[in-house]
Amino acid sequence: MSTLPPVRIGLLGLGTVGGGTLTVLRRNAALIAARAGRRIEVVCASARDLNRPRAIDTAGIDLYADPRQVVDDPRIDVLVELIGGIEPARELVLRALANGKHVVTANKALIALHGNEIFEAARARGLVVAFEAAVAGGIPVIKVMREALAGNDIQWLAGIINGTCNFILSAMSDAGSDFGEVLAEAQRLGYAEADPSFDIDGIDAAHKLTILASLAFGIPLQFDRVHVEGIRNISADDVTYADRLGYRIKHLGIARQQERGIELRVHPTLVPARAPLANVNGVMNAVMVNADAAGPVVLFGAGAGALPTASSVVADLVDVVRALTTDSENRVPHLAFQPDTMDQPPILPIGETETAYYLRLLAADEPGVLADVTRILADSGISIEAIMQLEQDADSASVPVVILTHKVQEKAMNAATARIEALSSIRAPLNRIRVENLA
Ligand code: HSE
Repeated sequence: MSTLPPVRIGLLGLGTVGGGTLTVLRRNAALIAARAGRRIEVVCASARDLNRPRAIDTAGIDLYADPRQVVDDPRIDVLVELIGGIEPARELVLRALANGKHVVTANKALIALHGNEIFEAARARGLVVAFEAAVAGGIPVIKVMREALAGNDIQWLAGIINGTCNFILSAMSDAGSDFGEVLAEAQRLGYAEADPSFDIDGIDAAHKLTILASLAFGIPLQFDRVHVEGIRNISADDVTYADRLGYRIKHLGIARQQERGIELRVHPTLVPARAPLANVNGVMNAVMVNADAAGPVVLFGAGAGALPTASSVVADLVDVVRALTTDSENRVPHLAFQPDTMDQPPILPIGETETAYYLRLLAADEPGVLADVTRILADSGISIEAIMQLEQDADSASVPVVILTHKVQEKAMNAATARIEALSSIRAPLNRIRVENLA
């Protein structure tokens, strides 16, 4: 073991992940030092409320109420940012870099929105910003995409990257319950936040997809170009009908290279029940990467939680310790590609993406209605793969009809949908969910 002094850490945030990081650093101190070649010591930390009772022992750590005191503490080599959100995290990370400190962060929003600026500031000073914990908690997906798949042309990736959505959709499927009931249960169990909109409206998944797409394709981080949909419109009926057709509904982040550009989208998706991602349930996360040489690679694990996220933070710390003695030009680039080779292919507008569709309509139970619907689809060049008419509701004159289509460009489906919804025999709006075979 090296005789060098320990690497000294300043920690911003002593919440769930901060506490988990202290636990892992202590519990596995000898193992971590044996791997890193030096001991890692937390010398100071900040927390919003220093008087709050904590499960974790902070003896020997200087505690500050003002995070700037951590960032400016001359003893530290590395800042670990675990406060989340954009400000003051952005300001503090940039200040740490200006002070010559390496940074480890679990902050997906910060990286997705300001990563280009932050990485440039780090590169200009020969510093590392590591962010494994920002995507899919304990799953080492950044490391795999940036290093282990470095020899591959990545064609697409698809991920279950929000545990809250996956918990809700899995529970709807298991219990046949409605979205609202399951969300209330998830909040009661502490899986969903009191304001769950970041998760269930897809923003959190879009932050993570932005980062993964950049690593996969060598493109700048472009959060504002991601098409984002959440899961509020998925009904218990959709889950049941999808099941009858041999599909599960999952909330996916998808990034795909097409000839004309790149698709970046987050939305609920029907996936075949036998597909690996269909069988990832509860709060678990998984990312499937389709790479030309490796073929399909699936990474599965805990997407959140104190210790899984701490596992990624500590792995980053070990990488930073090793990087302290390497030439900054010869490190793994922040976004997998050397910055001067990054490309800016067009991001396709959602209307130009191509997927198959699940359509659920409520039709009047009278002759010719289905013929009208199928004629509109045929006129629009949309081919039908399956059609299923379901039992009529006792208290309604309408009959649910479910149609699975072959692949179609989204703008053609938009036009066909408008024509179908204009039929007097159809109750608007119809429900539409994209279908991906992930093959
Ligand atoms: N809120 C996230 C989720 C976990 O539900 O997956 C942290 O990224």
